[in-house]
This record gives sequence, structure tokens and C-alpha cells, in this order.
Amino acid sequence: EASELGRFPHYMIKEITETAEAVRTVAAMPTATFAPAAARLAEADVAFCGAGSSHYVCMLGQYYFQQVAGRRTVCHSADEFQALATLGGDGALIAVSQSGETYDTLRVMEAAQAGGASLVAVNNVAGSTAQRMADFPILQQAGREVCVLSTKSVISQTAIVWRLAAEVAAEGKGADVAELTALAGQLDVLVQSLSGTIKEVAERYRWIEHWFFLGRGLHWPVAAESALKFKEVSYIHAEAMPAGFLKHGTISLIDEKFFTVAFIPNAAHDPEGFAHVVSSLHEIRARGGNIIGFGHDLPEVFADGFFEAYVALPSVSKFMDPMIQLVAGELFAYHCAVKLGRNIDRPRALAKAVTVR
Ligand code: AGP
Repeated sequence: EASELGRFPHYMIKEITETAEAVRTVAAMPTATFAPAAARLAEADVAFCGAGSSHYVCMLGQYYFQQVAGRRTVCHSADEFQALATLGGDGALIAVSQSGETYDTLRVMEAAQAGGASLVAVNNVAGSTAQRMADFPILQQAGREVCVLSTKSVISQTAIVWRLAAEVAAEGKGADVAELTALAGQLDVLVQSLSGTIKEVAERYRWIEHWFFLGRGLHWPVAAESALKFKEVSYIHAEAMPAGFLKHGTISLIDEKFFTVAFIPNAAHDPEGFAHVVSSLHEIRARGGNIIGFGHDLPEVFADGFFEAYVALPSVSKFMDPMIQLVAGELFAYHCAVKLGRNIDRPRALAKAVTVR
């Protein structure tokens, strides 16, 4: 395996570096790969299900279906899905799973199939159980992911659920994938030129024991997934929350010892999302809390010293920005964990696929 690592010290960083290629692969997939699924999704009651990181991809999928395709959908984590939803013959389930072997996700697929619903499966492993069960199997083709933590496969899945929403919106005429292609270029820029900056920030704050990870709208699933990644590999506690939820209680925790990671949309492409998160960040600063910001060119609305640290990420369109921010979150988790001497590719207690109840 060492030779496969090449110049990389860990699979996690090797696979993060391969993310841009995984996105190019999704951009290059012909419309025909998505058209049969999109035709069914355009008329069905759509539900998303996945576990862990794949659940957070599904949450992003829910925002994409609403905002790109104007379609209301349901989304539940696979382990809770059956307590909350059933699907019948007019339903379609989008099941997202890197491995295609996750127990909780397969059980939801079985129940949906038994009810007569159609199954769309998004998986990275060819021939997996989910791929074989699905009416509309979509293979990510992101290349084998060795690290127990999902990185490139999360972004590849996110690109695919965006593409599904875009193909539904295009009504069979073929979605414009220029945004995805532009994203891939900027992911290369991020990994090559900003990894060092993110490493410096991670090394400076690795001793902080409790974190909030905040985002709003499309950036709320980003915060949730980034906190999961951070916890998995660093073994440090992080609580993710929609930024607007903070004021309904949790804000009482904020003092000058508390640190928050904020995922901030690009004011130029998403002024409303930006304005929403800014008000929450002002609430934190007013109570002395410290903020690490992942955003874009620092807008004037923030005074000097507002952020403990701020990383200006490459600019992409509104719907691509979550993917840039997810990779920034992965790099932050990675560099923290390396500095703390953690077992990067095989964190304690974790397995690549959870195939038990
Ligand atoms: C991701 O970093 C995790 N290791 C984990 O949450 C994973 O995403 C989850 O177990 C689901 O796996 P799947 O995508 O193979 O179904």
C-alpha cells in the first residue's frame, strides 16, 4: 500500500487531492447517465436517505432539489428513516452510500422497494448491494477510497445530487455543467495553494477542546459534515448547528473561551445567505466568542480583528460553494489531527462501512 501513497503521508490527504478529478468525472458524465432517474424524480414524491457523511450529502441534495429544481423533498438519516417516513408506488428514494453496503441504508431501500417505490442509488463501489438493488444505479467513479473517512466521495456524491436536481430542472434538455467544471479548477487551487494556510490555522487552535461549527442554508449541511469529519479524525468535540438556531438557547455557552468555525457564503453570489450568517456571527462576537471564518474576500462589514483567523476561499457559484467549503473543512480536520498525532486513515472505533444494525 505504501507505494500507492506516492508522495502523500496519508490516504486522507491523497484522496482530498483527488477531489477535483472526481468532480471532473461527474461533469463529464453524459446526460444519459441521469436522464432515466431524473424523469422518474420529476414526477415522484422524492425522499433522500443516507448515513453519516452520506446523510449530510442528502441534506445538501434536499436544498438543491428545492432551490435548483423547485421540488419539495423529504430527507431523513437512514437510521431514523423508517420511524418517520414510508414510501409507496408514487415515491422515489435517492439512497446515497459510498460503500453501497451500509446496513441502515440498505434496510430503508428494501422497505421502499417493498412499498413499490423506485430506487435511485448513488454509490462509489461498483457491484455493491445498493447498485444491484437500484432501478436507477448511478456509479460515482471517484476511484477507490482507502481512508476510513469519506472525503473525495462526499464531494463526488454532492456533485451528483446537484446534477440530479439540475437535470430535473432541465426537463430532459440536458443540464449545463459549466459550474461543475469551474468548481473542479478552483478545488485544485484550494488544495494546492490554501492547504498551507489552513494548516497554520489548525496548528494554532488544535488545543481548543469544544467547538461550534455553524452554517446557514446550504452551508448548514457543510457545517454538520465538517464537524463530523473533525470529530472522527481529531477526537475533539464539535457541535454543529444552523447559525440561526444558536440564539434559541445554545448562545448561553458563548464566552471568550469559546471557539466557533463559521462557513460563510460568498456575499457576491449569495447576499441573502451571507447577511443571515453575519447577524449570527455578530451575536457571538458581542459575547466575546472567537470565530474562525471560512469565507471569501473579507467584506467590509467585518471590522479588523472580528475573526481569530479567516481563510478566503476561491470564488465559485452559489450552488458550488458548499463543495469548496467542505474541502476546506476536511483540510482543517486533517491538519488538526496530524498535529495531534492521530491515526489518520483508521481512526479508533471506526470502519469504512457499517454493515451491522
Ligand atoms: C464518513 O467519514 C464516515 N466514515 C461515515 O459517516 C460514513 O459516511 C457512513 O458510515 C456511511 O457510509 P456509506 O456512505 O458507505 O453508506
